[in-house]
Amino acid sequence: MRRKLVAGNWKMNGDRAALAEIDEIVIAAEHNEAVDVAICPPFTLIALAADRHPAFSIGGQDCHFAAKGAHTGCVSAGMLVEAGARIVIVGHSERRADQHETDAEVKNKAEAALGAGLIAIVCVGETEAERDAGRAGEVVSAQIAGSVPETGNGDTLVIAYEPVWAIGTGRTPRVEDVAEMHALIRDKLRAIIEERADTVRILYGGSVKPDNAAELLAIDNVDGALVGGASLTAAQFVPIIEAAAAL
Ligand code: PGA
Repeated sequence: MRRKLVAGNWKMNGDRAALAEIDEIVIAAEHNEAVDVAICPPFTLIALAADRHPAFSIGGQDCHFAAKGAHTGCVSAGMLVEAGARIVIVGHSERRADQHETDAEVKNKAEAALGAGLIAIVCVGETEAERDAGRAGEVVSAQIAGSVPETGNGDTLVIAYEPVWAIGTGRTPRVEDVAEMHALIRDKLRAIIEERADTVRILYGGSVKPDNAAELLAIDNVDGALVGGASLTAAQFVPIIEAAAAL
């Protein structure tokens, strides 16, 4: 039985005042012990949030694949650990698009994260044009094959399926499309990490909100959610945690 994981991705949002939202989210997480909860704030808030809540999962939104060196503006997995992070998102579609990250780079980052003792959330997902062209399965399969480290298992690796066209748009795929994609991802994972694939959580992400969370989280092979906009406030995020706990 895979424990549900509800993870918040704050992207480039949040200041010190927003730590009060994390305070409330932590209380809700403590009241919903059946679910794992994480918040990935911007780098600037990681140590502050982790120091305030040492027993809660704070995460990063990216890491470099090198341990250190001449990489201006980058942060290593080890640095995230030192700041108090337990988890890191790699290969988010915004980074694949804006920073031109390739599958090979994403895999290197995931390997660096695992090597440093972090849980890696590896993101995959097709664009709208790819879905319209009937290529969604092929695109996501290739991303899984190229981005997932062979050493991953259920304790260290999480996959997030996030259709690019559903992120921040208020649109979500049909239930049957999510079910089909998550089953495909599980199958592709088996080719890389064999029976350990059955222990890996596959999150759905893209416009998860309090009013659609229960339906999305109940789909076969949906083991949690990666939440952007609705994770910024406890008022929106806590009902999603509660929806996961109620399943
Ligand atoms: P959204 O973002 O919930 O705002 O659509 C999800 C994500 O990008 O992880």
